This record gives sequence, C-alpha cells and structure tokens, in this order.
Amino acid sequence: MAKYTVVTMPGDGIGQTVLPQAVRVLEKVGFDADYVHADIGWEFWINEGNPLPEHTIDLLRQHKLGLFGAITSKPKKEAAKELKPELQGQGHEYFSPIVGMRQLFNLDVCIRPCRSFKGNPLNFVRQKAGGGYDEPKVDAVIFRQDTEGLYCGIEWTNPPQVVRNALGMHPKYKIFADTPSEDLAISMRLFTRNACRRIVRGAFEYAKEHGYESVTICEKPNVLRETSGMMEEVAREVKADYPDIEHWSTNIDAQMMWLTKNPENYGVLVAGNMFGDIISDAFAGLVGGLGFACSGNIGDEVAVFEPTHGSAPKYQELDPPIVNPIAMLLSAAMLLDHVGETDKATAIRGAVARVVEDGKVRTYDIMRIPGGSKAIESGAATTIQLTDAVIAALR
Ligand code: NAI
Ligand code: MG
Repeated sequence: MAKYTVVTMPGDGIGQTVLPQAVRVLEKVGFDADYVHADIGWEFWINEGNPLPEHTIDLLRQHKLGLFGAITSKPKKEAAKELKPELQGQGHEYFSPIVGMRQLFNLDVCIRPCRSFKGNPLNFVRQKAGGGYDEPKVDAVIFRQDTEGLYCGIEWTNPPQVVRNALGMHPKYKIFADTPSEDLAISMRLFTRNACRRIVRGAFEYAKEHGYESVTICEKPNVLRETSGMMEEVAREVKADYPDIEHWSTNIDAQMMWLTKNPENYGVLVAGNMFGDIISDAFAGLVGGLGFACSGNIGDEVAVFEPTHGSAPKYQELDPPIVNPIAMLLSAAMLLDHVGETDKATAIRGAVARVVEDGKVRTYDIMRIPGGSKAIESGAATTIQLTDAVIAALR
C-alpha cells in the first residue's frame, strides 16, 4: 500500500485536462501515493442536485489530501434552470462546491504563492525613468482567510422581518429602513477572532520558515472598523511572537496600486476572504496570470490543492488541449510541501523554472497569442507537450 492516498477531483472543463497532468508529474518524481477519483461539479448538480456528492466528502474525510481541478458554477437562477426536469422545483439550491468544501472541512487557510519565473514573457516589467525597463522579481505569498468574511454565505435578498428588526438596532440602518424588503440585498461580512488568529499566525509562521522579512495585512480598518479592525488587532498580538519579522499594514485599495509600483517590496500578505481573492489574482497577474496561479486550502485535518483558475469552458473541447498546466503542477508541488516531501516539490518547481526559462515549449498564454484551435498551428505547445517538457527537465 502506498504511503499516501490522494483524492483527485478533476471537476469540470479544463480541470479534467490539467489534473491528470499533475498526477503524471507526481508519479515521475516518485511520490508514494495512490489516487482515488472523486466526483464534483456541474454534472452532479444537474443530475443529482448536489455538486459536492456525499461520496466525495467521505473520501476526503478518509484520506485528508485532495487535488482539485476546477468547476463550472453559475448564478443561482441560471443554475436552477439547468437542473434535470425530475429535480426541478424540489428546492435544490446551487452552492459552489469549493466554498462548500472549504467550510465543511474548515479549510480556513488559503495559501497562494505568486513567484515570477525567470524568462517568462508574461512577467511584469516597469519602465525606468531614464529609459529601458526593469523586471522586478515578484515573490509574494498571499494568505487568504478561506471560510468567512464576505463569502461566509449569510446573505439575503428580501431579508426576513426579524433580520430587519435586528439591523434596526444599529443607528446606521436608519437610512435604509424605508427600502422595501424586495429591494434590499444583504451580504454579511463576518470575522471571528479565532479564524483571524489562524490566518495571521499561519502567515507569520510561513514567513519565519521561508525567510520572508515582512507580513503585510491588507484590509480596510479605517472603513471596515469591526472586521478589518479585528484582523489588525490580532496581527499586532501575533506579531509580538515574531520579533524578526516586520508587520506592515496597507489598505486593500492602496495595496492594489502599490503592487504594480513596487511588487518586489512585499513578502507574505494576509487578507480576509474577498480581499484575499482579489489581491491574489492581482499578484498572479504579475507573474503570468491564471496559467501560473497555484493554491492550497489548508485545514487542521484536510488539505486540498488547486490551481486558482476556473474551468475555462471555451477551451474545454479543444483537442489537443492547449491550456497551461503549470498552475496545476505548482499546486501539486504545494501538496508535496504540505506532506513534507519538500525535495520532490522543489524538483517540480525547478523543472518548471527550467522549461519556462528555456522558452522552447510554451503554451499559447506564455506566447501571448490568442487561445483557440489555431494556437497549435501558430506554434503553441499543447498541455501534454508542456507537461512532457517539465517531466524531461526533472532532476
Ligand atoms: P477561468 O479561470 O475558467 O478562465 C478565464 C480565462 O483565463 C480563460 O478563458 C483563459 O483565457 C484563461 N485561463 C484560465 N486557465 C488557464 C490555463 N490553465 N491556461 C491558459 N489560460 C487559462 O474563469 P472564467 O472564464 O471566469 O470562469 C469559467 C468558469 O469557471 C465559471 O463557471 C466560473 O464560475 C468557474 N470558476 C471556477 C473556479 C474554480 O474552480 N476554482 C475559479 C474561477 C472560476
Ligand atoms: Mg478568484
């Protein structure tokens, strides 16, 4: 029996393309694991009214280690229309299975490293005052709180009267009090001190272990005084245990500006769920975009690793597939780090770095050409060719 069992959840669209490539690479580096397939995604919503089947939950509970591709999701009303006829009108409500998985297993710490690879034509460059360009090295690791905040799921259009009554206790509610319920939509931003502590401590620990000089809290405490304020308060408390690491705070809006002015100044960053979602995509844009953006969702018991991109439906039918597998491969490397197989993780990242720098095998996105069926004719590598190149570059 292998040392580990990885629950593989390809999901929808290009999730099904890239996930098997990660398994190939994990096998090549000699990771001692068995793989069990688990269903997730749109097909299971349509046919079973549940995009996160019980069996998948059981497998994750049992094996504790997941590798996930991507899913397709749609807004509530559109999703309801696509349910198969037998399931229509039975009260099934669509929810994102990833958000569900994160909440169910309390995968509250999301880590999203954004590191530039040398020679990547997609790297951020900056014009110099005296002419020419420089290419700052980006090495930012975003810690995104993954289970609460604005994505906690507590929301209403047409909120019940008891909710309105409760809100009526707040003086700021006065100006909304006359809005008819059906014209009132509420999404709640909820932070708990415990989750703030876990994400901030996770970030400081990571900074210490990997030699980062600073942890930046990106929130908005001047406006969101309670929730962002709590994150800041906790950060000051946690920082006391890490005298060698600087604690910086930026407002999320200002941070979005700073990251294109001086991205090299930032190391580990922490944010609540939505700000973390935004800032991690923004940093990913500096290092190659969605084809390079990897992540891990980590709880006390279960951890699931996934590229941050979605199912890219417009490319899912292309044969041969053209999408970039690197985000998925780097996510698999994060899984190896998580279980302590650091040498194998480093080997994968090293091989990716060599392939990117070498520049001979590039998917369409790295070539900066349009995606689509013509990409291959235009000289782009297929998903499989890029993976082959990474495998050949392993040392
Ligand atoms: P997306 O990430 O699927 O694709 C956006 C665009 O990014 C693609 O059209 C493509 O041009 C590019 N892209 C994405 N992955 C790439 C890769 N590996 N290589 C090269 N180019 C790549 O986002 P979109 O189009 O907004 O959403 C499509 C579906 O995916 C939606 O149903 C959405 O809800 C879902 N989604 C799922 C996520 C997940 O499973 N974690 C995350 C984001 C979106
Ligand atoms: Mg996102």
